[in-house]
Amino acid sequence: MKVQEKTSDEDLNNIWTKVWKNENIVDSIRNIRKDENLRWKLKYAPLNGKILEAGCGVGQYVIYFKKMGFDIEGIDISNDTVEKANIDSEMMNLGKDIFFTGDVRKLHYKDNSLSYYLSMGVIEHFIEGPKFALDEAYRVLKPGGIAYIATPTKYSLAHANSFIKWLLEIDKLPRRLIKNILLKINILKEEKSGWIENLWSLKELKDFVKDSGFIITDCANTGLKSTFDSNFRPSRKKMNKVLKKTKKIFYPILDKYEDRNIAKFGLNNIVVAIKPGRKMHCFFCDSIYDYKKLNIGKYSVPVCQDCCNNLPSEIIENYTFGRKPKFVRRNYIPPKKENPKICNECQSEIKNDEIFGDLGFEKEICHTCIKKPKLLLKEKVNGLKYENY
Ligand SMILES: C[S@@+](CC[C@H](N)C(=O)[O-])C[C@H]1O[C@@H](n2cnc3c(N)ncnc32)[C@H](O)[C@@H]1O
Ligand SMILES: [Zn+2]
Ligand SMILES: [Zn+2]
Repeated sequence: MKVQEKTSDEDLNNIWTKVWKNENIVDSIRNIRKDENLRWKLKYAPLNGKILEAGCGVGQYVIYFKKMGFDIEGIDISNDTVEKANIDSEMMNLGKDIFFTGDVRKLHYKDNSLSYYLSMGVIEHFIEGPKFALDEAYRVLKPGGIAYIATPTKYSLAHANSFIKWLLEIDKLPRRLIKNILLKINILKEEKSGWIENLWSLKELKDFVKDSGFIITDCANTGLKSTFDSNFRPSRKKMNKVLKKTKKIFYPILDKYEDRNIAKFGLNNIVVAIKPGRKMHCFFCDSIYDYKKLNIGKYSVPVCQDCCNNLPSEIIENYTFGRKPKFVRRNYIPPKKENPKICNECQSEIKNDEIFGDLGFEKEICHTCIKKPKLLLKEKVNGLKYENY
């Protein structure tokens, strides 16, 4: 039997173009607020330098980061999806060429050119394993640049769910059985699809990331609620209603266990890693400094001496090594409509934005002021809300 050495671009393009064909970008953007891991993605986003989301799908995160003034681009192997994403971002006045068709295993960026590399649910889909993609991430990041890598974990109860669902589809069982027998006796040929999903533990993912040369600076299992969300899809209207009614009681209990040991059974492995170097780029000001002179290991991001001395303590303390990002508030009931909201920074009235809402920060902030880097940093670390209703 011939072993396939690398999942082909063609297979990946075909699979994912189908997956995203009917996805609505506005829904995807709104769902960002239900993302347990948004706190991680924002915490580790440097204010200067270029960001890449590698394997960006419909592009909701790229659009969200762009809206906040980050310099971000997205790459995906699905050409149709990329074209659509560029049209969407142009319609939202966020630029028209921020998405590119490309392979995360062979990026068009120069060595040492990016500050942040985001990868969510991508590197587990290659038959040859994650190494090509992670080596590329390492190559394109600057020394001091940060990689945020997330994959589904192998212990997730969400997989048990899908197994149970599979068993419960009794009407399809005989057909499946017959198909399997026909496959076994070689009368039927397995469809060539190229679909593969490797499930790793957090430790296994960390080992892959380290093997490519990175230093791990933070990691976690999260996503206990996703186990239940994954059962409640738009097609299951009745079950959705039950979830909506119960989650305001049930989800806050699960929230208590996010980031604890039991979150091992949640959906996600998250690894945050730094490309090391003797001269590193500072996370806060992007200046290059001599890493050897610094108190190594005090912070989870590279910090130069000036920033160490001058940054407000409420900002820098959030980056003390081992400090996990948190949401300041978790909402499961929609808030009542309030009087016109006033921006905390410029005191102007905040216009309602159908797509982005209030951007998810505790403090009222208008869409212009959110782009001011210092402020953004403070807000994002100190005041992010989680909303799921
Ligand atoms: C599970 S989706 C995640 C999408 C997005 N990151 C998100 O969180 O919504 C995986 C994405 O990776 C893309 N992808 C898979 N293999 C790729 C490759 N070799 N190069 C670039 N993109 C790839 C797929 O087209 C798909 O959009
Ligand atoms: Zn600095
Ligand atoms: Zn303002």
